[in-house]
Amino acid sequence: MAQSRKIGVFGAGWVGLVTGACFAELGHEVIVRDVMPDRIDALRAGQAPFHEADLPEVLERNRDRIRYTLDADELADADVLFICVQTPPTYSGDADLSFVWSALDDLPRGESGRQVLVMKSTVPVGTGEKVRAALDGRGLTNVGYVSNPEFLAEGHAVHDFLNPDRIVIGAFADEDGAAVEALYGGIEAPVLRTDVASAEMIKLAANAFLMTRISFINEIANVCEAVGADVVEVAKGVGLDHRLGPHFLRAGIGYGGSCFPKDSLALKQLASNSGYHFHLLSAVIEVNELQKRRVVQKLQKHLGKLRGKKIALLGLAFKAGTDDMREAPSLVLASRLLAEGAEVRAWDPVARPGDLMKGAVLYDSVLEAVEGADAAVIVTEWDELRGLASKDVRDAMARPLILDGRNLLDPAETRAAGFAYEGIGRPSSPFEALPETAEPETRVQN
Ligand code: UDX
Repeated sequence: MAQSRKIGVFGAGWVGLVTGACFAELGHEVIVRDVMPDRIDALRAGQAPFHEADLPEVLERNRDRIRYTLDADELADADVLFICVQTPPTYSGDADLSFVWSALDDLPRGESGRQVLVMKSTVPVGTGEKVRAALDGRGLTNVGYVSNPEFLAEGHAVHDFLNPDRIVIGAFADEDGAAVEALYGGIEAPVLRTDVASAEMIKLAANAFLMTRISFINEIANVCEAVGADVVEVAKGVGLDHRLGPHFLRAGIGYGGSCFPKDSLALKQLASNSGYHFHLLSAVIEVNELQKRRVVQKLQKHLGKLRGKKIALLGLAFKAGTDDMREAPSLVLASRLLAEGAEVRAWDPVARPGDLMKGAVLYDSVLEAVEGADAAVIVTEWDELRGLASKDVRDAMARPLILDGRNLLDPAETRAAGFAYEGIGRPSSPFEALPETAEPETRVQN
């Protein structure tokens, strides 16, 4: 168990709350500060502001050790201050650090002794140097600076925090790195102590590598389609090589979410600002954009022009287990389909895209969404969709075509259930095989 310390957290967003909750779980006293009064009120009333597994329970279990405030001065006596604010992309693709700088402006002046400021937010390499200079410029030489990036994935962030693959700590001064390492006492994981710039780069490089694997397997999938191989089998065989490993080799309709798209742009921009063109990363990003759009071509292959066709998008969140719509491939898909003149019917068990998906109609159940549909597209790998190839669904659809954007279903079983099946990187049903159905009277003619 770690020695209990006082921890201040700037930002009651997803990273800030998971960080605060988990440090409280480790026995520390935590105070979380945000600038949004509604959010602070809700947290004080015991409500987590978003859907994240285990978070409400951990917050509740540690309610005596976590406080919430709007007043940064209440963080004055914290031993360690974590910055967990958003760093969205600007128009130029650079990370917008204005929330980081305003947290610095609000930094309380501790009475005495050393305080350590820790960057959890993902920031461009070189940010630590700039913050260090800004602290010194303000006479805050008693405040140390440490980069301690998070590697949390949505849906199991609490588990990831408490069971990390590694803890990365980049510090200018050894004593500050040691102070941060001590906070993680009780967690079994390799600790990498390094310099600040390298710690910043580790986060960006790890994300970029994961995205590279996804775009790589998506391109292999596209070649598989051309040559008649099955990418699911290929990924299995490739992943058994201990040098490669099985993770992040699921072909699909492209990555989304709050981190990958933003962080890839930030790294690309960081490199090009320094005069280096990161070719590989540019290709990874482009492949991902194309991958989202390939679904439209596949639908056209089976249905011809999409004008007036009813397409059901099943699953809208960027991945299963979250209601997060940030950079979800479903958004690109819906707007491409609407632009082609298709009628978009949508379903998701938790995500509510609202105006983000203007023009699409949201239904409460899968069965309603597929009613009269010319195709059903599995966009998010929700468990509820594993049974999609049912008689009820087949009877409800105008044409029984399933486009499986996540390779969730078994192709042979799906075909045996009377559907034409098209996955990602798997042998598809020949389009002549699409069972014929009468055109409904009301359909807009091509
Ligand atoms: C990711 C990183 O995993 C995490 O370490 C980082 O801190 C933030 O970004 P997250 O965005 O929550 O986390 O989701 P993750 O589970 O990593 O998936 C990212 C995207 O890649 C999703 O859209 C997912 O569907 C897609 N993906 C993932 C694939 O298409 N194929 C895969 O094999 C794995």
